[in-house]
Amino acid sequence: MENGAAPTAKPVIVAIDGPSGTGKSSTSKAVAAQLGLSYLDTGAQYRAITWWMVHNGIDLADPTAVAAVAGKPEIVSGTDPSAPTITVDGVDVAAPIRTQEVTSRVSAVSAVPEVRTRITELQRSLAAGAERGIVVEGRDIGTTVLPDADLKVFLTASPEARAARRSGELKGADLHATREALVKRDAADSSRKTSPLAKADDAVEVDTTELTLAQVIECVVTLVEEKRAAK
Ligand code: DC
Repeated sequence: MENGAAPTAKPVIVAIDGPSGTGKSSTSKAVAAQLGLSYLDTGAQYRAITWWMVHNGIDLADPTAVAAVAGKPEIVSGTDPSAPTITVDGVDVAAPIRTQEVTSRVSAVSAVPEVRTRITELQRSLAAGAERGIVVEGRDIGTTVLPDADLKVFLTASPEARAARRSGELKGADLHATREALVKRDAADSSRKTSPLAKADDAVEVDTTELTLAQVIECVVTLVEEKRAAK
């Protein structure tokens, strides 16, 4: 038996939403690894479809053109939290989906309803197939993708803290420019018509501004264990 979970434990579905720079990915991966659950980074899926559109010269300013090809790329996510993977038509895109070119375009692509329908289907089927359960991180997981999740967490942090974390990740990128880009992307993600970034009514909000990563992980692990015990 791995990680101490009983073999008969019912799968547990955890939704972790919030804007960028709140520690969502690091927290979600660590919680999944610690509890023996699968892990899905839904932002990586939106980045992957954006990468494919850029790579294939699709006009991203034209939502009709984006919608017309939304079903074309085959996006496959590996859900092991210790080594998550993402491929598009068999190509490993883990690195290219993190480029500035993709980051600056992903909000436009992910606002197209046909793109969201396609990616949401993938997410639901991965969650349904996770034998021991899954931690799914994104923007609309608790509200739209998995509204019946056992636990919903909404991570927040001040824009200053989020920009500081992101600039650290980007190895000393300009703090002011990072903050501006982050606030702009959040505004686009929160104001789009189809399933915007939003906290579900039944989500537990955790403000991570003054917390260390270890503290956030511990907090979420405790919340999951409480839900598991109550199942
Ligand atoms: O988490 P991230 O920064 O890698 O996400 C990239 C973009 O993908 C984000 O700006 C909005 C979009 N996204 C989304 O629309 N819905 C999700 N569930 C996850 C990400």
